Amino acid sequence: MHDIGNVVSRHDHGQTGAILAMRILKEMGMDYNEIAYIASAIGNHEEEYGHPVNDIAAALIIADKTDVHRGRVRNKEFATFDIHDRVNYAAEKSEVEIIKDERIIRLNLKINIEICPVMEYFEIFLARMMMCRKAAAFLNTNFQLVINDARLL
Ligand SMILES: [Fe+2]
Repeated sequence: MHDIGNVVSRHDHGQTGAILAMRILKEMGMDYNEIAYIASAIGNHEEEYGHPVNDIAAALIIADKTDVHRGRVRNKEFATFDIHDRVNYAAEKSEVEIIKDERIIRLNLKINIEICPVMEYFEIFLARMMMCRKAAAFLNTNFQLVINDARLL
């Protein structure tokens, strides 16, 4: 539901999505106080302006911004891949690990560097990873990023 605003436009889809979600959830009978949590989470999930304003927003940020893997690439023509396609296609393994005792949220990635150098990953994912770090801190946890067995964050 967090990306529902894309039906209007990719630009500011967090904001439009929050408004759309409010209406839909109200029609489904949800209480206003619960709607407010969800709408503010949706309205804060994009890296351009989002903040982990509550637990749901923090969880959404981590779930959304760690979502990188080959299965996301719809384009079948490798020759026409843009940087997003390349990075996602190169991500052969992607898992979020919760180490409860140490309060760590760790994103483990296996990136095929024949397809995409790790630097390209950072070119488009650095802002997202910083956002994950803030969201993890909101949840009183630490965010770690491990790419090809090297801890980078
Ligand atoms: Fe989004």
